[in-house]
Amino acid sequence: MHFFNYRGDVLFAEEVDLRALVEAVGTPTYVYSYRTLKRHCTALHRAFGDRPHLTCYAVKANGNLALLRTLAREGIGADIVSGGELFRARAAGFPGERIVYSGVGKTEAEMRYALEEGVMCFNVESLPELEILDRVAGDMGEVAPVALRVNPDVDPRTHPHIVTGLKENKFGIAYEDALDAYRMAASLPNIKVIGVDAHIGSQITSVEPFVESVRRLAELVERLGHEGMVLEHIDIGGGLGIRYRDESPPEPEEWVEAILPVLEPTGLKVIFEPGRSLVGNAGILLTKVLYVKETSYKNFVVVDAAMTDLIRPALYGAYHEVLPVERRGEGEMVADIVGPVCESGDFLAKDRSIERPRQGDILAVMSAGAYGFVMSSNYNARPRPAEVFVKGNRFQVVRERESYGDLVRGERFLYISN
Ligand code: LLP
Repeated sequence: MHFFNYRGDVLFAEEVDLRALVEAVGTPTYVYSYRTLKRHCTALHRAFGDRPHLTCYAVKANGNLALLRTLAREGIGADIVSGGELFRARAAGFPGERIVYSGVGKTEAEMRYALEEGVMCFNVESLPELEILDRVAGDMGEVAPVALRVNPDVDPRTHPHIVTGLKENKFGIAYEDALDAYRMAASLPNIKVIGVDAHIGSQITSVEPFVESVRRLAELVERLGHEGMVLEHIDIGGGLGIRYRDESPPEPEEWVEAILPVLEPTGLKVIFEPGRSLVGNAGILLTKVLYVKETSYKNFVVVDAAMTDLIRPALYGAYHEVLPVERRGEGEMVADIVGPVCESGDFLAKDRSIERPRQGDILAVMSAGAYGFVMSSNYNARPRPAEVFVKGNRFQVVRERESYGDLVRGERFLYISN
């Protein structure tokens, strides 16, 4: 569900004609829809109703400050995985007590920063991490609130690169070792055990893997209870999928209805960490057609956005729908939509049947709000794109397009003499 729709033959973001937006801002440009974002938040709020819960948006999906602030104002929290994300989250207005800190490789400096900011919970992923956190907290005269991230060994049936909850993945503490790990955590003087956590993967399009994972977590909570360890929350991670093509992921209500019967008996507050399902369909990437290159073997539409701007197709073979901003009705062609980067892997779409474009036309790469700009790079010395928010009939640049000066910022010529 989103607010990028055609009016006649022209694609609009809410009430903004995307041709006018491109006229003002240029391409490539990410465009986010405020109303779509709000709608996704509301759908999640409604699904949980008045049951105790906290949505902690996974900042990694899109860390744009304007987007973060919009979410912070909705009263939701943040799930972060680095000091940098903590900085962004705080700058956008998320209070420490609504921030959970995930990730396998927290440094001591990051732990200190997070303790200073009073994060609500550290999702700890290994015993050595627990020991260091205990020491760092002790040195600061603090007690670190902790949930252990357990690896429930559940197959989320998604792309292998975004599976995280299988035995062979680097994430979390093995399920069979979890009890011992909790005993150890409980024995540490500067650690307060407050929760249990799991995250099994991303772009999950059925409820079953979630139900299985939550069931395993609930069993663990019960066992911990027998040992006198009383927790405050159960964090079920993120991972709810969206529609890129023809997937039919569960609606928030359906998802909540499926997991609640397993969750509710624990009596714990529920935390979840959605990224993609909140922002994925709230963003698109606009790009200009540079050349239509027809060869006897294949057709290429060369555009000004590349894998440096949206890497998902190159990295995962991910499908993103590509739509013309202005429909011309000049027939279809099958083509690869490729960027200017010097890599054969630089494509946005492969063998795609699209409306035949003309040089200078604008194309919209859909569902690019999650893991789009955040995974962009400066490879081939390409300045990263602008980001724009649309709200009703107005729009605002919320991140300027990078300049050539930005590309060399912080660099120096070598000054060491013999
Ligand atoms: N919580 C944790 C601990 C995570 O590692 C992730 C995502 C999330 C929450 C949010 O998951 P979501 O609701 O967005 O599925 N770059 C990949 C996705 C990587 C996801 C990494 N972890 C992609 O473009 O598909």
